[in-house]
Amino acid sequence: MTNRFTILSTEIPDSWKYAGDGWGSNLHRICSRTGSFPPALAHYFVKRYSRRGDVVLDPFSGKGTLPLEACLNGRIGIGNDLAPEAYVITRAKVNPVTLEEVKEWIYRTKRKWNPESYDVDEVSGDVRIFFSKYTLRQILAIQEMLMDDDSDLTNFIKALMCGILHGPTKMHLSVPCSHAFSMSPKYIRRFVKRNGLRRPKRDVLKCLLIKVERVLRDGLPRVRGIATMEDARKLPLENDSVSLIVTSPPYFNMQTYAWDNWLRLWFLGYDYMEIKNRLFQSESKQKFESFMYESLKEMFRVLKDDSSCFVVVGDVKLNGYYVNMAEMIAPIAESVGFSVARLISDSIPKSNKHLMYIKEEEGVSHERILELHKGNPMSNDEPVAWAQKPMEVIA
Ligand SMILES: C[S@@+](CC[C@H](N)C(=O)[O-])C[C@H]1O[C@@H](n2cnc3c(N)ncnc32)[C@H](O)[C@@H]1O
Repeated sequence: MTNRFTILSTEIPDSWKYAGDGWGSNLHRICSRTGSFPPALAHYFVKRYSRRGDVVLDPFSGKGTLPLEACLNGRIGIGNDLAPEAYVITRAKVNPVTLEEVKEWIYRTKRKWNPESYDVDEVSGDVRIFFSKYTLRQILAIQEMLMDDDSDLTNFIKALMCGILHGPTKMHLSVPCSHAFSMSPKYIRRFVKRNGLRRPKRDVLKCLLIKVERVLRDGLPRVRGIATMEDARKLPLENDSVSLIVTSPPYFNMQTYAWDNWLRLWFLGYDYMEIKNRLFQSESKQKFESFMYESLKEMFRVLKDDSSCFVVVGDVKLNGYYVNMAEMIAPIAESVGFSVARLISDSIPKSNKHLMYIKEEEGVSHERILELHKGNPMSNDEPVAWAQKPMEVIA
């Protein structure tokens, strides 16, 4: 790829880089998850490259940032991700419920539940290390209540629970730890011992109430979307049915999603090792290229003619060498029928670069956004205005 395709994200006059810290609806903050792009980036591409009523897709939706931003702007957002916790969070965002419905669920639960009857000794020691017995009994009671129900309300409460299960504040149920990813039990065991920490006694229903009041502070999107949990190489969508794709595939050699979410997966009734085997993960460049070939072929199939596809990827440093994923993916995209229109170069803040267990000299150093075209798409001429709150919500 030559330099004539390259532009810096800061050179775009109405770029997401100018949105300001914490931009976006509070619904985006239902649960944090590693590897996600910012709501402002999703907003920029949705506004610029699609119209109201269009179908907008992220086949690797993670915590559902893109589909939610689509719904908030009058598009039909579709988010697909093979990881169960990603599906739960994406679904909660595109098919949310009202504050009243959650409050009613909390009051109903309070009247009928009996957490004292749950035996915490049956729970794995790796989970117990995070919680007091008092808190864990309540978590087990809620877990059982939610398990065999697949309604939007139940799903929304699962997403809220994933959002408060572990973290550093008084709303979180665990010993103080990261809220972005589930930390290793070995580390937490040492951390608790070294600092003489007490596992907090929380009123879980009260914490849920605080969380939901924050998350739904900005109202709900008017348009509902769709969440699916399929392999991105086999999307449950018709040919030529999507007007815009914005996505970020698993980064080469950095797929730690199952481990990063092991405690949330436990809460949702999954074994993280089983999920790890399900998600794409490989150290082999060849396997990654073949995975991207299958995924891009599928994106090309579902995309309408004269439409755009934006792929956010990083420069990954591996064993001392940089792997430029954009350069790796561009010829593959061309081989399935896309043309490479542009490459947007985007620096990412140092604080977002590394998980604590990834060595300083490894990890993602830089992100690039590949603009792919199927046919000859046009962008909207109207620049993106960075109003603080989304407009299309039900108050
Ligand atoms: C870089 S993340 C996407 C993050 C997302 N853009 C966000 O803002 O949260 C890549 C995602 O690919 C998912 N994934 C891995 N293998 C997959 C597969 N075969 N099919 C669908 N999703 C997969 C992971 O669970 C992860 O959420």
